[in-house]
Amino acid sequence: MDIKTVATTPFLDQKPGTSGLRKLVSVFQKPHYLENFIQSIFNSIENYQGQTMILGGDGRYYNRQAIQIILKMAAANGVGRVKVGRSGILSTPATSCVIRKYDAFGGIVLSASHNPGGPDGDFGVKYNIANGGPAPEKVTTAIYECTKVIDQYKILAASDVDLDTLGETKLGDMAVEVIDSVADYKELMESLFDFYRIRELLTDGKFRMCIDSMHAVTGPYAHALFEERLGAPSGTVLNGTPLEDFGGGHPDPNLVYAHDLVEVLFGEDAPDFGAASDGDGDRNMILGRRFFVTPSDSLAVLAANATLVPGYRDGLTGIARSMPTSQAPDRVAAELGIDCYETPTGWKFFGNLLDADKATLCGEESFGTGSNHIREKDGLWAVLFWLNILAVKQQPVEQLMREHWQKYGRNYYSRHDYEAVDSDRANELISKLRAQIPDLQGKKFGNYEVEYSDDFSYTDPVDGSVSQNQGIRIGFTDGSRIVYRLSGTGTQGATLRIYLESYEPDSSKHDLDPQQSLAELIAIADEVAQVRTLTGMDKPTVIT
Ligand code: G1P
Ligand code: ZN
Repeated sequence: MDIKTVATTPFLDQKPGTSGLRKLVSVFQKPHYLENFIQSIFNSIENYQGQTMILGGDGRYYNRQAIQIILKMAAANGVGRVKVGRSGILSTPATSCVIRKYDAFGGIVLSASHNPGGPDGDFGVKYNIANGGPAPEKVTTAIYECTKVIDQYKILAASDVDLDTLGETKLGDMAVEVIDSVADYKELMESLFDFYRIRELLTDGKFRMCIDSMHAVTGPYAHALFEERLGAPSGTVLNGTPLEDFGGGHPDPNLVYAHDLVEVLFGEDAPDFGAASDGDGDRNMILGRRFFVTPSDSLAVLAANATLVPGYRDGLTGIARSMPTSQAPDRVAAELGIDCYETPTGWKFFGNLLDADKATLCGEESFGTGSNHIREKDGLWAVLFWLNILAVKQQPVEQLMREHWQKYGRNYYSRHDYEAVDSDRANELISKLRAQIPDLQGKKFGNYEVEYSDDFSYTDPVDGSVSQNQGIRIGFTDGSRIVYRLSGTGTQGATLRIYLESYEPDSSKHDLDPQQSLAELIAIADEVAQVRTLTGMDKPTVIT
């Protein structure tokens, strides 16, 4: 084996964010940048020598080059075997599935999720641990500490591996196995859902669906599942070929960026069901005919109907949602008599709850839903879950949602994002808000009175670890909330996210436009934080 030890110096900006290390492609292309981070992963973990690692990405620009580098570094660092997705493709949920199935010590997913790709776009590296989930904070902190002191990395001098042909080759002493990107994941889905019934629904000649893969990683998965296995007509999957720049789009499944799908579902002769997924396949958006299901409501519906689905027939042990996610799932948990956990933003906080069997379903308002079947959120899993419920209940999406609101009340919800805000201004806004926290309680704004206000802090009920400063919450006496936090995934300036929620028990008032029903809270959010003045922006960049 021709192992080279290369001298390097630290980059001081390699602190992993909400979901791995994300930077512009041009940053990752700097000499030694990727290598330093990968070596820091190996330096910070133990007992991986001779063991199996999983590797793949969402197919974005620089995916293939990065995979070749990582394979050679894995070989030089003593990894026993790497299973890599064919053509470098493995969705985030599929990676989690494969890590668990083959007892790997961990895996690396190359993705910047929903951020745009291409030479001028973003790239990212996420490290997942043996349970298949994102590395928890203690691991990402250890990696970050290593990036600050790194002075050398190891890489094998070898030619590139053929990533497009299934099968096994050797890289030095390490086995490289190019695996089918879809097969293991598809098998897991078949074990959870009633494919027979879903196939009946999709082939009954009445029900029509359409799924937008946004030229990102889920294309091959969606073709294999919905068109080949479940019998939906070809053409059901839109934008199903992964492209390095996602066709110039922003692979974020929301009403703004998934406009192809939105046009179809809100157009003439719209199909019954629509869904979209993001760059690396862990997010989902669910639409009915001319109807949008908020991600928070989606989690609540899945929880309320879980026992209709074979994989969840025995019920749920608990539900977990991120703090900014609406409280709709809490109402279902209360009805079911199970716990509902409120965690900081980011999927890594769900791992311990799932491992300890305290929660079965998890979700985030940011179009993420998942369960204990893996340790990541899972876009196509959510689509199959919805289809399974619809196949059993034989109801349109809108009717299902309305009946849910009738029973539990409706949590009106919206998120306002201010993107690419000057970082200093954004930090000033947050510190000014933080300074107000002690004085807000009891204050009145129009019809609203502040019941509590804090900077959210979370103590993990399993390992006792504490995560502080996870977002500023202002709760009102009627259950409404405003939450402010800065994004941990953006790469340009800062992104301010404002989350707004109110509760309406009266079903005669369930027909409002959320922006209207939340108008007063939106105005209060601006007044308290001086958003327009401090950001210099007169309206949000994206409203979901
Ligand atoms: C965003 C979402 C968060 C999600 C993360 C990774 O993080 O808000 O819910 O877990 O992307 O997909 P943020 O940019 O807000 O830190
Ligand atoms: Zn993602």
